[in-house]
Amino acid sequence: MTRALAGGGGAVEVPLPTRRATRELGRALARVLRPGDLVVMSGALGAGKTFLTRATCRALGVPARVPITSPTFTLVQEHAGALAIAHADLYRLSGPAELRHLGLREARDSRLVIVEWGEPYVEALGGDAVLVRLEAHPRRATVSATGRGAEATVTALAALGLGVEPSR
Ligand SMILES: Nc1ncnc2c1ncn2[C@@H]1O[C@H](COP(=O)(O)OP(=O)(O)OP(=O)(O)O)[C@@H](O)[C@H]1O
Ligand SMILES: [Mg+2]
Repeated sequence: MTRALAGGGGAVEVPLPTRRATRELGRALARVLRPGDLVVMSGALGAGKTFLTRATCRALGVPARVPITSPTFTLVQEHAGALAIAHADLYRLSGPAELRHLGLREARDSRLVIVEWGEPYVEALGGDAVLVRLEAHPRRATVSATGRGAEATVTALAALGLGVEPSR
């Protein structure tokens, strides 16, 4: 049994021993995310940023026939599910100037924005982000917030009961 616990700083830690566990986290995120939210997925290559993004998009109703991949070369892919989603991978971004051309901040007017490798750009993207830090050894996610709206989202996520208390 795992217990839902928001840690001291409001972070939620979720063990992800199996792909199924990661899909479950995607379903939980899908229940609490809303248009205008910014989710930043961080972690090393292969940590599962795209896998969790795909799981979240599927749970939001993006059909299985629509590929959800790391949009490294197009940088941004748009998807339609229960809500409109913009998915970006900023690994190859040259800097903040290029970011402005992507229109991701504007996308938050109407869309859920999910960004891989987006940590340096949280403020440029309007701040108030849900940060999902993924680790592969062992596999787990630590979900935290950088603003009030995101804090409410993380609290709602914790209430769904898949987190455990962050280890020290
Ligand atoms: N518990 C798990 N959760 C998520 N992915 C897992 C898990 N176990 C194994 N995997 C595998 O790990 C890989 C994660 O790859 P993914 O493309 O999601 O990583 P990424 O963080 O997006 O990498 P990149 O930085 O290259 O974009 C997938 O091949 C997936 O099948
Ligand atoms: Mg990826």
